[in-house]
Amino acid sequence: MTSAAPASTPRVLEHTDSILIIGLGMIGASIAAGLKAQGFKGRILASDACHDELEVGRSMGIIDAFGSIEAMGREADLIVVCVPVLAVEQVLRALTPVWHDALVLTDVGSTKAAVRESVCRVFGHVPDNVVLGHPIAGSEKSGVKAANPTLYANHNVILTPEATNRSEAFELVASLWQRLGAQVLSMSVEHHDDVLARTSHLPHFLAFSLVDTLARQDERLEIFQYAAGGFRDFTRIAGSDPVMWRDVFMANKTAVLDALDEFEQGVARLRCAVESSDGDAMLSIFSRASHARHYFETLLNQSSYQSMEQRSITYRAQAGGAVEGRIRVPGDKSMSHRAIMLGALADGVTQVDGFLEGEDSLATLQAFREMGVAIEGPDQGRVVIHGVGLHGLKKPDGPLYVGNSGTAMRLFAGLLAGQEFDTELTGDASLTKRPMGRVVDPLRLMGAHIESAEGGRPPLTIRGGQALKGIDYELPMASAQVKSCVLLAGLYADGETRVTEPAPTRDHTERMLNGFGFAVDKQGPVATLHGGGTLRGGPIDVPADISSAAFFLVAASITPNADLVLEHVGINPTRVGVINILKAMGADITLENQHEVGGEPVADLHVRHARLKGIDIPEDQVPLAIDEFPVLFIAAANAEGMTRLRGAEELRVKESDRIQAMADGMAVLGIEHTVVDDGIDIVGGKYGGGVVDSLGDHRIAMAFAVAALNASETISIRDCANVATSFPNFLELAERLGMRISAEESDE
Ligand code: S3P
Repeated sequence: MTSAAPASTPRVLEHTDSILIIGLGMIGASIAAGLKAQGFKGRILASDACHDELEVGRSMGIIDAFGSIEAMGREADLIVVCVPVLAVEQVLRALTPVWHDALVLTDVGSTKAAVRESVCRVFGHVPDNVVLGHPIAGSEKSGVKAANPTLYANHNVILTPEATNRSEAFELVASLWQRLGAQVLSMSVEHHDDVLARTSHLPHFLAFSLVDTLARQDERLEIFQYAAGGFRDFTRIAGSDPVMWRDVFMANKTAVLDALDEFEQGVARLRCAVESSDGDAMLSIFSRASHARHYFETLLNQSSYQSMEQRSITYRAQAGGAVEGRIRVPGDKSMSHRAIMLGALADGVTQVDGFLEGEDSLATLQAFREMGVAIEGPDQGRVVIHGVGLHGLKKPDGPLYVGNSGTAMRLFAGLLAGQEFDTELTGDASLTKRPMGRVVDPLRLMGAHIESAEGGRPPLTIRGGQALKGIDYELPMASAQVKSCVLLAGLYADGETRVTEPAPTRDHTERMLNGFGFAVDKQGPVATLHGGGTLRGGPIDVPADISSAAFFLVAASITPNADLVLEHVGINPTRVGVINILKAMGADITLENQHEVGGEPVADLHVRHARLKGIDIPEDQVPLAIDEFPVLFIAAANAEGMTRLRGAEELRVKESDRIQAMADGMAVLGIEHTVVDDGIDIVGGKYGGGVVDSLGDHRIAMAFAVAALNASETISIRDCANVATSFPNFLELAERLGMRISAEESDE
């Protein structure tokens, strides 16, 4: 009857002669209709207490024959029980006279423990040919006439197999659902019932209850008359089959009551906010919910963070193009993270303008929402944060997911080490490979309880309620992230925290803390602060990100006739390595309209085409240009002679090993280079096109897109979705300037 084909292929269903559907309601009839629509060659049999429904099914052409459970059961290879959960036992008893080992039986019940108990009562155990399941699809409609052949397409079906199930039985049931276009997942019975209590049973409970409550009121006619979209959307499912739902609540009582308890706590919190006119608390709950709902929507539409990792975008950068115009690149990533963090920990309101709406900084923003901070926006770069004070964060319900962002994980590690509650920090596949020992070590010296996974990698688990003490810490590497992590933990530490860096790194944390009224003393390489003060919220203007501007600085420098102005770019002295290096190579860059906003210097950068020459990059510039090297390598490939980089081993632990990733791509294009441990030599000259891999690293992707301006052929760049982490409108701005890059989505 069945073959042992793997669950991923629907072929095993081809060997099934007869499928019996017991219970020809909307769910069962949709299976029948779907199978017919998919061209299933076997016979579809049905059994139902209601003879009329069976007649209708046959006249609709979705079933071939019907009869009693026993008669039909005798002819079937595969049986799908589609009756309300509490009726399953009776159906199984009716099947016992014709039961045999070669049969396979499954069900569609919304609760699984109760169905398993019914099975055990009839057979004494779960037979190895019974595989329970539940399609997560439905409709408030009922009856055979509501049959929908595409009801299960692109929906999940959860199977809850037992360890004793025969694999071919599981595979046959899986292939049934796959044939109907569904994705098959498997989980334990208990987990299924817990999850469904929250995601399905509780919403049905609320919808039934709300409609019933309103319907009891005298003026109900009027209420329904004026009830508009909100009522209709919220209560659609209250039109569902009452018998089925009675059975669900009888069968999954415990899990539903647990879910209801949690819900009541949530209602009490919101009620309390409304009662006490606590606008901030309401905003916090509503904005968290609103963003979670949008997040859910993007999950459904396959465009979430998670699916972003699977989505593969390839850039095709055509050879040649122009670089001309006046643009403002998005806000600085480092400052955007810090503005949210300090704004959340401040007393009062912080309005941020110029915020980078990239995935990295949005993940930071969402993490604070998870910890109870009310945040409005972002709306065209404006974010309003209702600070909760240094000690006002709340324990998040689950791990905090920071996506691709090393900055977020390391800075969060510092500030979470000082909280009263436990937290876990997780990230995407790239972040999971990056070293966190560099922040775990100093935090432990401060008294933090923090664990990492093997090899000092994420996730990080941070135990709250620890008394931190200030330390005097010499950074083993030039890293603004580690420096900032220690300083943020220092806010919560007893006494003085001092950090000494081996070379200057970006100092936005120090500047911004001072801007928030929290004194940080900076004497040469040493930053010092005292724990225990407060931060004061206020306006922050985030300038355009010099790390994003860098792609166009190089683009204009290497493109004949280029003339470009990049507006309002942050030119903090700890970030201008890229300008210094390019100027040393002969670039024509002038700084216009220099002024200061909120403690950070900014300028319009005017850049024109120039003949570049190779140089030995001064080592003291390396930390000041640390994120700009991928595109500086492209500048070097377009310069006359050799450019030599040393002292840049940190590049190997960024979003990718940037020395190797660039070297591999340059090899494809035919750019001469030699890799060493802490750097690279690159010889400028003519180069071609080809297919290069960004390894999911946003800056590698954008660097090779710039390279195409002078390549002899198209450069295709794989795995570019992560450009959205730092520069969501890169393609749009590049096109506006005259570069010719298109993006293609594929399922690689
Ligand atoms: C950053 C510091 C740098 C940089 C990163 C942002 C920051 O990392 O590469 O993109 O915002 O502090 P390191 O501190 O690890 O060098």
